[in-house]
Amino acid sequence: MNTDTQNTSIDFALLGHPSSYEHLGDIFRHSRPDFNREKLTKYRATLEKIFEWTPSYASPDLLLIPLAGGRQVSGRLIFCNFLPETIHSPRKMLAAYQKMRDGCNVAKDLGAKVVGLGGFTSIIGGTQGEKESEELGIAITSGNSLTAALAIAQLDKLLSRLDWDLGDRTVAVVGASGDIGRACALALAPRARQVLLIARNRAKLEELRCEMPASAEIHVSTNVQDATHASIIIAATSASQPILSEADLRPGTIVCDVGYPKNLSYASDPRPEVLAISGGLAEMPFALDITYYTQLPTPTVMYGCFSEAMILAMAGRYESYSIGQGRITQDKMENILALAQVYGFQPASLFRGKTPVTDETLSTFLQCSYQPKEAR
Ligand SMILES: NC(=O)c1ccc[n+]([C@@H]2O[C@H](COP(=O)([O-])OP(=O)(O)OC[C@H]3O[C@@H](n4cnc5c(N)ncnc54)[C@H](OP(=O)(O)O)[C@@H]3O)[C@@H](O)[C@H]2O)c1
Repeated sequence: MNTDTQNTSIDFALLGHPSSYEHLGDIFRHSRPDFNREKLTKYRATLEKIFEWTPSYASPDLLLIPLAGGRQVSGRLIFCNFLPETIHSPRKMLAAYQKMRDGCNVAKDLGAKVVGLGGFTSIIGGTQGEKESEELGIAITSGNSLTAALAIAQLDKLLSRLDWDLGDRTVAVVGASGDIGRACALALAPRARQVLLIARNRAKLEELRCEMPASAEIHVSTNVQDATHASIIIAATSASQPILSEADLRPGTIVCDVGYPKNLSYASDPRPEVLAISGGLAEMPFALDITYYTQLPTPTVMYGCFSEAMILAMAGRYESYSIGQGRITQDKMENILALAQVYGFQPASLFRGKTPVTDETLSTFLQCSYQPKEAR
């Protein structure tokens, strides 16, 4: 990372936002260590208001990515200053959407040719992403194709370490009618014993059911708690607060939590008979010193959404690879994962929050979570 950003035209930009007020506090403390939790609590209303008024702006730090032959591509983080937990009215939604558009404009002014929409910046844009791309004359990607591909690859890695066969298992996809959830459900349906599609809007789930392979056993539910009947849960909702609790999971359950903010609330003491992993993450072949902002376990671990934009920039493919909703195909997932691997990105190792999932964690999980076949 380099702070000499004067006159440097960038190749890519990553639009992000804090996942919660607590995360915003961590970001404050990165530059003002004296800003302790007590002050953050005391001044919460004021700080939230100031944050709401702050326009989208670029981080001063240049993100430098080395390429073969001594070349490099460069980018910047663009801060879109909204908190998912405060978007509870159409007016707030519109304000956040405007910050996403402003962030794209900031990126364009800096010379970026592709923008990656992190977390809620793609959700508030929804199907509009294409409009922004056309209007602003800049490629925009949600990164959801790579995120879904990474989540499936991480899950497969875990299943193979556990020697679990997907064909024996019930998989619940929470947020199944969403962009990432749909892609994951379609990828897993041909291989799983049965798939449970969960979200709030039943009509959208029924539409998705029609897209599923005829041979797959599919069930639909609008009750999130039904996910606890499955032994594998992929959580990819746009909820601004956790909607599942680790404490409620049956022994022998795996959760792959793709949400940002997280969809699962973690128990303060990990339950050894449950495995919760962060999904949709890549291991990069270089480090970016922005963990204060990403909240990820190491500087080489990165979100799929940001990784996709960086990989497109590295390949010189300035295109809106993942845009709109419901358009991710298996080919798109495979192709972007293959391109990622060309540039040295891999599905990330497994973490529960920031703690690595070790062989010991897995063998303890297996020992205390046996389920008879019919209960899987
Ligand atoms: N790990 C990464 O690198 C990465 C990358 C990109 C995105 N993400 C995160 O992944 C998540 C999904 O993104 P997306 O683009 O797929 O979102 P999306 O297209 O907006 O879909 C969201 C899904 O969640 C469902 N949902 C929302 N609130 C819910 C609730 N309270 N209970 C149950 N279902 C609910 C929605 O359906 P209903 O409205 O019908 O309930 C929909 O099915 C987000 O948290 C996003 O920030 C992570």
